[in-house]
Amino acid sequence: MADVMAGTTAGTASEPTAPVVAARSLTKAFGGVLALDAASTAFSAGEVHCLAGENGCGKSTLIKILSGVHPPTSGTIEVGGSSYGHLAPRQALDLGIEVIYQDFSLLPNLTAAENIALPSFLTHRRRFVARAAVDAIAEQAVARLGVDLDLRTPVGDLTVADRQLCAIARALAHDTRFLAMDEPTTTLTWREVDALFDAVRRLRDDGVAIAFISHKLQEVFSIADRVSIMRNGRIVATGRPEEYTHSSLTESMTGRATSALARETPTWRDKPPALEVRGLERLPLFTGVDLAVGQGEIVGLAGLLGSGRTEIAEALAGVLPATSGTVLVRGRPTRIRTVTDAVEAGIGYVPEDRLTQGLFLDQPIGDNVLATGIGSFARFSVTRPQRMARAAAGIVHSLRIKAASLQDSIRTLSGGNAQRVLIGKWLIGRPKVLILNGPTVGVDVGSKFDILSLLHAESLKGLGVLIISDDLPELVSTCDRVLVVRNGRVVSEVDRRDLTEKALLEAVAA
Ligand SMILES: Nc1ncnc2c1ncn2[C@@H]1O[C@H](COP(=O)(O)OP(=O)(O)O)[C@@H](O)[C@H]1O
Ligand SMILES: [Mg+2]
Repeated sequence: MADVMAGTTAGTASEPTAPVVAARSLTKAFGGVLALDAASTAFSAGEVHCLAGENGCGKSTLIKILSGVHPPTSGTIEVGGSSYGHLAPRQALDLGIEVIYQDFSLLPNLTAAENIALPSFLTHRRRFVARAAVDAIAEQAVARLGVDLDLRTPVGDLTVADRQLCAIARALAHDTRFLAMDEPTTTLTWREVDALFDAVRRLRDDGVAIAFISHKLQEVFSIADRVSIMRNGRIVATGRPEEYTHSSLTESMTGRATSALARETPTWRDKPPALEVRGLERLPLFTGVDLAVGQGEIVGLAGLLGSGRTEIAEALAGVLPATSGTVLVRGRPTRIRTVTDAVEAGIGYVPEDRLTQGLFLDQPIGDNVLATGIGSFARFSVTRPQRMARAAAGIVHSLRIKAASLQDSIRTLSGGNAQRVLIGKWLIGRPKVLILNGPTVGVDVGSKFDILSLLHAESLKGLGVLIISDDLPELVSTCDRVLVVRNGRVVSEVDRRDLTEKALLEAVAA
């Protein structure tokens, strides 16, 4: 397809100031894999430059070349106006280039202060280190970062978020001019991400050039002064975040048009709903829950944590059954007391925590797709093994599950691919209703797109879909309607026509 960002210049013509660090046509081949393909970009002082792109597009490789971990196959690295064919790690450090990797490379038995200060001493090749000097360096770095960190605590006892701040402070103590952070928010909570962002902004205002790698669009929009999008080892677009929308960023990252998700006129109104629930109750979790999902309809279930939305889903899936209420599947009354009841009624459930609830991690991918092992699907698999195997292969193919072999274990898959396996496993049994709890949490943007496209396609065949999610943009782009749960009740509904992030946020927080 034509490049979706054809109108945007890659590698801007006018860089305001000379960059601190620049990649000039960097190419890197690992055996037959071209991880970087003539990538050019620049990082300027006082700017947070986000590198965004799907897993495997070359983000980490770019940073590793800039910091001397790998030599490039061709191209040059520019630092402070000088060009280098490659950098040694020590040399990169001496030039003020720092990278914070996901493991932070901290020493757990040393205190925060020692971790922060030691590299500075090593640089100056000092053999004797005074405690007071260590504390002074650490305190100065932490103050510059504007964070509150207990410097006397061994790093091994700190929270992940504090360890990260410690790693940033260490970089600061080291006279860093360019700081790259590779997916720093992966294991952080919302509040911790806020604190991290504050620290990153301070560093930026202090004149550090920052490369911030993320594939989460919301983060890109909130922290970036500039964003570059990578795809297949190339920088395919560069610009200011205001020049993009969620969908244009997604399109650049995936090279696919998101308009495929646009919904057509619904056709389910004249058929009995896929799922109808009346007066569902399990005290104290929820009560008086009424809801319906049409055949072919995608309905969202939004609500704050603890609102009861997950418990309602688990009741419908037979995980934690309701104590009273009526459930009808395509007009047929059903009693759901166990997971088997739900499966036999045609209700599939993709839980929030797929790694512990949904998959057999050490079993082959192929077996996982087939391993429903319960209710009507089990009978199907016993009587028609070849048909089941064909169906599994078909699902793996249509879900674009990236696996070397169906014999590999689930553990070898990325989060996005594991989620596809879980959804595929349900679709094989042709459920009438599929309930998904956080279907795209922790999956990369390309998998997210594929998963939502798949749900869309299945809904057009008559599947009723109920999605529980915190991801407001996702609910807005995917759902026909969103129901809002509060204190164990469905309290309001936002229809397609009024469905915006703002309207949803107001309804959820009301
Ligand atoms: N050390 C390596 N050896 C072989 N292949 C690698 C190595 N590092 C990365 N790759 C490959 O290069 C490509 C880009 O990887 P990476 O830079 O890690 O992507 P990203 O950080 O964007 O997810 C991928 O196909 C990956 O498998
Ligand atoms: Mg990476």
